[in-house]
Amino acid sequence: MRPHRTRRLRAGVALAAAAVVVTGGAAPALAGPHGNGPGHGHGQGHGHHDPDSRRIAALVAQLTVPEKFGLLGGTTGSNGAAGALAGVPRLGIPTLDMADGPSGVRAAEPATALPAPVALGATFSPDLAAAYGGVLGQEADALGMEVLLGPMMNLVRTPYAGRNFETLSEDPLLTASLAAPQVAGIQDHGVIATAKHYAANNQELGRAGIDVHVDEKTLHETELAGFEAVVDAGIGAVMCAYNQVDSVQACENAELLTEVLREQWGFDGFVMTDWFAIHGPDALVAGLDVEMPRPAAFPELAQDVDGDGRVTERDLSRPVRAALDRAVTGVLTAMDQVGLLDGATDDPERAVEENAAVARQVATEGAVLLRNEQGTLPLSEDALGSLAVVGPTAATPLIGGGGSARVNPDAGAVESTVDVLAAAGAEVTWATGEDLEGELVPGSALGGGTPLDRTGDAALTGEFSEAVTVTAPEAGTYTFHLQTTGPGAQVTVGEEQVASTQNRFGALGGSLIPTSDGYLNDSWTVDLAAGEQVAFTVSGTGTAAAPVQLRLHWTTPQLRQQRIDEAVAAARGAHTAVVFGYNEGTEGEDRASLALPGFQDEVIAAVAAANPRTVVVLNTGDPVLMPWLADVSAVLQMWYPGQEGAEATVDLLTGAANPAGKLPQTYPADPARTPVSDPANYPGTDTDGDGVPDEQTYTEGTNVGHRWYQATGTEPLFAFGHGLSYTSFDYSRLRTRTGRDGMEVSFVLTNTGDVTGTEVPQVYLGQGSAAGTPAVQLAGFDRVTLEPGERQRVTIQVDERQLSVWNARKDRWEPAAGIRPVLVGTASDDVRLTDSVRIR
Ligand code: BGC
Repeated sequence: MRPHRTRRLRAGVALAAAAVVVTGGAAPALAGPHGNGPGHGHGQGHGHHDPDSRRIAALVAQLTVPEKFGLLGGTTGSNGAAGALAGVPRLGIPTLDMADGPSGVRAAEPATALPAPVALGATFSPDLAAAYGGVLGQEADALGMEVLLGPMMNLVRTPYAGRNFETLSEDPLLTASLAAPQVAGIQDHGVIATAKHYAANNQELGRAGIDVHVDEKTLHETELAGFEAVVDAGIGAVMCAYNQVDSVQACENAELLTEVLREQWGFDGFVMTDWFAIHGPDALVAGLDVEMPRPAAFPELAQDVDGDGRVTERDLSRPVRAALDRAVTGVLTAMDQVGLLDGATDDPERAVEENAAVARQVATEGAVLLRNEQGTLPLSEDALGSLAVVGPTAATPLIGGGGSARVNPDAGAVESTVDVLAAAGAEVTWATGEDLEGELVPGSALGGGTPLDRTGDAALTGEFSEAVTVTAPEAGTYTFHLQTTGPGAQVTVGEEQVASTQNRFGALGGSLIPTSDGYLNDSWTVDLAAGEQVAFTVSGTGTAAAPVQLRLHWTTPQLRQQRIDEAVAAARGAHTAVVFGYNEGTEGEDRASLALPGFQDEVIAAVAAANPRTVVVLNTGDPVLMPWLADVSAVLQMWYPGQEGAEATVDLLTGAANPAGKLPQTYPADPARTPVSDPANYPGTDTDGDGVPDEQTYTEGTNVGHRWYQATGTEPLFAFGHGLSYTSFDYSRLRTRTGRDGMEVSFVLTNTGDVTGTEVPQVYLGQGSAAGTPAVQLAGFDRVTLEPGERQRVTIQVDERQLSVWNARKDRWEPAAGIRPVLVGTASDDVRLTDSVRIR
């Protein structure tokens, strides 16, 4: 047993009061008693308080063993919850309905679709993180949820990982600094937050059980930093991951669940499995508390051993008895801490407008201006008077990524960027460029048959299965599009599914971008010779109540060229061209390539060749390769910007807002040179030959993300912390001072440009003569808004933790003694001031 230690988080940031104006949902006072009638909600007046251990012990003493086990296994929830824990009404223990996810509350009813967490990461703003958490808490409360299944704390370790959009950053300090206020923002509304997925769940490939080999020092200094910070912030729940950590399932890993989480960090809430991540009843004694979404293994422990006709304490072994009480105590403690044991109150109403304002502010402040040559942005009057806009996501915004993080926004909340630009007075010509919809495959290509068009009166109401053979009229690359409404359909070639718009992660699947007339769409691409045939089967099940409207479209080589020609013609006739690029990050799969999907690189290159003033707006959740970079004037990374994305994008393009976001992940220049280019490191080794990786080793050690680029001298495409502004900043007069609690770094920051702007100054520590530290590390940051000509002395507190290393032998942090360079700058690759400090 390690000594229990309490430590308050000091994120290493000192915020300038004027830096952020936070509106809306953060205030728990918004939750009024004017709700939807008596619910099981908890609304107003609750919030974070110290759990009453006597009250909890008294409840535990009154619970029978079956009731205790009943609190440790999931059940079906209400209002589209991902799951629930049934309460014990006779003792006033409420039901816990649990909703995903990190970027908005995922329920049957609509909720505010916030920008993806990666956009929050790019704000570098603990204040906005608190506001973002406030929206999640307020809406979870309003929608009858007691547990919010977020935030996701796993670091971005590989640029390929499908859920990179769903987490905050590759940097431990940045992640910790934003997660802690976010959790407080959620829990202030009487909702239990959940840190997921504990731990080392950094990719989707093989996630169901890959064995991650990572040393203890690396874990503590990188991946665990965010988890530890939210435990310090009082988080009520932790979700253990699907994967193994050093050959032990994360959900039955005593070292992680008991030694680190409870004994070292003092966690007193409950640990739940990721969905179906239970492997056996031993997990309870190892430190797992709750199995989701159903009881599966723990009931094996609740046997009537003594045959007296009931299950009581006497039937349990001593370790199981102790673990059972620990688990139940954890669930009740998490409830009590947010006021859930104080009796039900009405659910408040969603603070729709305030929450939308937070969504818009985060989308705006998290946008990163990657490149801006000759002041192309903000768009001039001339540009706005003659603008070509290209790309499907300019018209049908991609507001969020896929999987359990997908949120269902209010009807009418999401606008098209083309429409918002036009409303702002721009003269816009739009062309799709990359055609995601195509056109109906004609009967002539189907052996003279009729097109596959079961829409309108022809909608399918029973089980259906149609064999389709298409003959290519000419050689080239064909993209087929399955487009459906209702319960959807799938396309199979032999045994293999190549497209599906059917249920996935509890929602209908397919592309995240529907067709312009609202059909779900899923595409697949094949190269065909002239006259070559492809055969596949389209199948599914409709009902009278939910018929499947279905049609088969394609984009032929000829149509593809036509779309590029249209985009080029629009760009050639315009003063400036803006091309929107996208990718679709999702839970359940990693990206196979870092390139923009489909033919988007060709479209951008063609537009850039036609118009020297070409701007690229990216809606991606992670880095993409940019083979056309040198040929375009500007690149604005908008991420998946949430339901207010169009408004935020237009504010930034027109200069109504000034970009201030910084990259929370490094953009690689070359896919062969990333921290994970060794296959044993990522995706891992397939030891049983089933095509899925089973083992991997985090060979980069503590040099995760930007640290690796620095350690190996590898040039990225865009470095961690990079992000331009419409103004410029000057740094001068650096002072550093070490003290008992860490180090103080101060310098003078001046806005040397013509417009008000916000800068995120960053403090890095080099390795110097200290042993065991990474090549470079982010040690602190701030966010400062200055008017033109304004200057300010900025002081950044570097926490003691940033000056320490984990001693795995002694299981404790120790000062990293030595002389270390202090680097202050506007990005990890744009250092403006340097000094050095002696750490004792
Ligand atoms: C995901 C979790 C999510 C859970 C419930 C799992 O597949 O990994 O992040 O909270 O499903 O939807």
